[in-house]
Amino acid sequence: LEKEIDVDFNQPIARDGTHAEKYEARLELFGREDVLPMWVADMDLPTPPFILDAIRQRLDHPILGYTAMSDQSYQAIVDWQTQHGYRVSREQIVFTHNVANGLFLAVRALTRPGDSVLIQPPIYPPFSKAVQMNDRRLVTAPLVLEDGQYQIDFDAFEQAVVEHQVKLFLLCNPHNPAGRVWSSADLQDLADICLRHGVTMVSDEIHSDLVYAPHCHTPLASLSAEVAAQTLTLSAPGKTFNLAGLQIGYGISANPQIKQAFEQEAHRVKIHDLNLFAMIALEAAYSEQGKAWRDKLLAHFQSNIALLKSFFARHFPAVKVINPQASYLVWLDFRAMFSDHQVLKSWLINQAKLGLNDGLSYGEQGRGFMRINIAVPQSTLQQAFNQLGNSINPE
Ligand SMILES: Cc1ncc(COP(=O)(O)O)c(C=O)c1O
Repeated sequence: LEKEIDVDFNQPIARDGTHAEKYEARLELFGREDVLPMWVADMDLPTPPFILDAIRQRLDHPILGYTAMSDQSYQAIVDWQTQHGYRVSREQIVFTHNVANGLFLAVRALTRPGDSVLIQPPIYPPFSKAVQMNDRRLVTAPLVLEDGQYQIDFDAFEQAVVEHQVKLFLLCNPHNPAGRVWSSADLQDLADICLRHGVTMVSDEIHSDLVYAPHCHTPLASLSAEVAAQTLTLSAPGKTFNLAGLQIGYGISANPQIKQAFEQEAHRVKIHDLNLFAMIALEAAYSEQGKAWRDKLLAHFQSNIALLKSFFARHFPAVKVINPQASYLVWLDFRAMFSDHQVLKSWLINQAKLGLNDGLSYGEQGRGFMRINIAVPQSTLQQAFNQLGNSINPE
């Protein structure tokens, strides 16, 4: 029998003395240390106790030597992915250092220097970095904000593929920022274009466990055998269970050539497999208890998102809150309130004293936008509201 999940996500937890990047990097990032940090995508909420217990139990043994990947760690992924209707086998899985590492490895493994790689900005910054830092050509097919939600311009996408002879497409599914969940019809249309033009697809699905009903996550590779044969999926339990500090990631491909190329790239720099604690955490996370924990977490996020939306509607109606369909990163459109991005940024940092992710880091399409992380106790959100409410003279 599974234990009842007993957790109070509104209990504040001080992170002092834990080298939490969200706190420690404030001076460097915002120029001052007193901003309320609501940026990098980890949570000010506890990692589940059943994961901490599993790690603690392993620490009862005094030797932390070289560790072979357990059968259970592969099986945990196979079982976990079935909830998304994604049937994978152990032979298709390659462990990585984390998901960003997987993106960089994928670009190196599946293209050559000078090849064109397509992304859809605004997007999580490592997508463009993985391309540019490896001397590939960055091609963009920006998402279009229509009626408060991001949409794909399929004609522009196909045109970019053809014009630049794109070799690889990096999809963010669900999309960060904005928490956009792609429907199976959207994904099929994208995949059809990629299949038509021989473009290999990489799908970053790290936010896939955190989707709000009635939306539903569709793994790109679950669409058909044909799509799976041209796709590498990347995922991890890091976002869902607040495990970023452990560095966990994996890739899945039904195409042995893609899988091998990806695996070999990891072996070239001799960084492969999970570390001991990452392996233990993954096994503990991907469980029935993990699903129950995730459901409670989603309810907490939804209540925070509702508070955020009603705060802005009442006090700053010019700010548009893009309603997330997944995850805890909310994309805020300040364009009707500020005409100058730098003025917006300075207002948030120096008047509201909030440390948010700068919209411009997601691409030029993020000008006038900011990303706020609501994976916090309600009191932290309330503090952010108070600070915003007390900030006068926006421009
Ligand atoms: C879409 C996406 N991919 C990858 C990552 C990073 O994951 P990891 O810490 O496993 O590299 C993030 C973190 O915010 C993300 O949003």
